[in-house]
Amino acid sequence: MGKLGRKDFISIRDFSKEELYTILELCKKQKPLARNFSLEPTHPGRVLACIFHKPSLRTRISFEIAIRQLGGSSLYITDKEIGIGHREAPKDVGEVLSRYVDAIMIRTFDHRMVEELAANARVPVINGLTDLLHPCQIMGDIMTIVEHLGTIEGKKVVFVGDGNNVAHSLLYGCSKMGAHIVVATPEGYEPREEVVARAAEEGRKNGCTVTVTNDPQKAVKGADVVYTDVWTSMGQEKEKEERLKLFQPYQINPQLVKGAKEDYIFMHCLPAHRGEEVVNEVADSINSVIFDQAENRMHTQKALMALTM
Ligand code: CP
Ligand code: NVA
Repeated sequence: MGKLGRKDFISIRDFSKEELYTILELCKKQKPLARNFSLEPTHPGRVLACIFHKPSLRTRISFEIAIRQLGGSSLYITDKEIGIGHREAPKDVGEVLSRYVDAIMIRTFDHRMVEELAANARVPVINGLTDLLHPCQIMGDIMTIVEHLGTIEGKKVVFVGDGNNVAHSLLYGCSKMGAHIVVATPEGYEPREEVVARAAEEGRKNGCTVTVTNDPQKAVKGADVVYTDVWTSMGQEKEKEERLKLFQPYQINPQLVKGAKEDYIFMHCLPAHRGEEVVNEVADSINSVIFDQAENRMHTQKALMALTM
């Protein structure tokens, strides 16, 4: 086990606020060094296996670069090679990979597969997105909020769109860090009840509120952060047409963000479907921090690997 209380990074829910700050502190030190090419390669020879069952730009590239900057290297593995879950059980894959590599990053559909892999791997397993959660994204986002707003504690973070994996991890991240979180979705697309309940419980401990609503205008009122994500996530492509119609009132456009604080920041995990969940006037506005989020993925994941490997 590294400097965090657990071997794996599967959900933000599993970590204390102090541990999340430990990751952020290291990022703060490493980011300027990495930008100056003066980061010390503290993990020479370490190998990260990156398993992808869904496409990726940010997650793949940021992990590959991050491990290189630490002095290690990575392997890109798709389902064609190992057939995890059908050619071989996640349990056995976890055991075998632990004999070869120093950490495993996995992006897949079923969250339980990641948990099973982690339970049977002796090396750290990092969740690079499942249908349920996207914790690495939210670590980069917390860093971005702190950089732009000075702190995340006490801020009002509003997620408008689908109650999906990003919304779930944002619920966990904000309630853990003491930010008031509001999630506004169409009826029937709310975040999972158990995630909301768990976040609300965490929020009570940390002095912040957790709200789920179907009213985007009301939600955005006084927001410090307005966050959205695609309306159709990877694996839901068949529902695209129906979602396009249903989600229209939840589009982030100049009219909707009028209700937010003047100096609010706009966030999106990307990829964005411009013209759908967000229009260019907002995505390219001075309030937008979307590319800082993308960069901070690399810094937070690097710190996370350094602390767990
Ligand atoms: N935000 C994010 O995870 O992007 P990718 O799907 O491109 O990795
Ligand atoms: N909710 C999106 C996030 C992509 C980074 C998806 O799962 O496709």
